[in-house]
Amino acid sequence: MLLKELYLLNFKNYTEKNWLFSPKLNLIVGENGTGKTNLLDAVYFLCLSKSAFGSTDQNLIRHGEMQSVLRGFFEKKGENFEIACGLQAGKTKILKCNKQTYSKIADHIGKFICVLIHPYDTDLIREGSEIRRKFFDQMICQVDSVYLEHLVSYNHVLKQRNSLLKQFAERHFFDQTLLEQYDSQVMELGKLIFEKRQFFVQKFVPEVLKQYQYIAESKESAHIEYESDWQEANWKINFTQARQKDLALQRTTVGVHKDDYAFQLDGFSVDKFGSQGQQKSFVIALKLAQFALMQRLTQEQPILLLDDIFDKLDANRIGKMIQMIENQCFGQVFVTDAQPQRSLDFFEKIEEKAIFETAVL
Ligand SMILES: Nc1ncnc2c1ncn2[C@@H]1O[C@H](COP(=O)(O)OP(=O)(O)OP(=O)(O)O)[C@@H](O)[C@H]1O
Ligand SMILES: [Mg+2]
Repeated sequence: MLLKELYLLNFKNYTEKNWLFSPKLNLIVGENGTGKTNLLDAVYFLCLSKSAFGSTDQNLIRHGEMQSVLRGFFEKKGENFEIACGLQAGKTKILKCNKQTYSKIADHIGKFICVLIHPYDTDLIREGSEIRRKFFDQMICQVDSVYLEHLVSYNHVLKQRNSLLKQFAERHFFDQTLLEQYDSQVMELGKLIFEKRQFFVQKFVPEVLKQYQYIAESKESAHIEYESDWQEANWKINFTQARQKDLALQRTTVGVHKDDYAFQLDGFSVDKFGSQGQQKSFVIALKLAQFALMQRLTQEQPILLLDDIFDKLDANRIGKMIQMIENQCFGQVFVTDAQPQRSLDFFEKIEEKAIFETAVL
């Protein structure tokens, strides 16, 4: 899977620009604030139809402009695809594949897969459960379109149930039949999501273990414990028994939207007991495992986006990553660095590469 060419118009700090990429290594170098990360975000956006950094579609439009265009020319299994997205102030985005507008943007997810490694990845360890659910959801969605459908439906029903709970409180009434309609859907969809997450984690854990031992040169056992209300034998009863609490709090307190993934080294929480180095190794292992598993499940090499990794990693881990790139463990790779000479030195041995310089516009 390759991104051969990219065209951006009024995307973040870019006015209008075109890039022809190498199928192997692409180095994006330039001073701070010149648009290196923004370029990776554009690639990510064309794959996942949203920003990697939580920007709303509207915030991606260059300040002072009314619309933005992203156009990518991809190659997959010898076939060419043109993915184009139009963003317009105050309107919803339009996404096209080979000039055909998607009726459902979700249909695009999984067509072109990518993995991003960036400096804030350690948030995955330190922050609350939401960021971990997002990480796993995004990964599973890219390889399983049915999962994405379940997730969209679940979130929709959950929103409806929560708004009904609010209405009960605001209007001082209660309709059990109405609530039970949502309850059964939340439980049914929740079970399907739980089963998929459980299945996926089982496949993911051995990859994380392997990648951690490689990247950290360590024998420690990296593990992920999936934690879900749905694991309890009597999850249905628990869900129903939480009704009083749900009514009081006006939101659904039990379900897969509360799931978490506990990251562990030798059985201890990486968050509570891991050193900074162990935490950094763990997140890189997560991302490398993501790459390996997505490749295995889709028979395609995801596009690898490495944002600013040289500033945040120590020499050993940098050496390992460079070794992997040299050994062609990945397909197309994009690397950003604010120090051009450093990257050129690191990738001296790689002949098939393109270098792009970002500059203040
Ligand atoms: N919607 C937007 N319109 C105009 N400029 C924007 C928009 N969104 C972000 N920017 C600008 O993009 C610039 C940041 O670009 P980016 O994060 O890609 O820089 P970078 O080269 O990765 O920097 P660093 O080396 O510090 O990581 C900032 O100056 C920011 O103000
Ligand atoms: Mg950056």
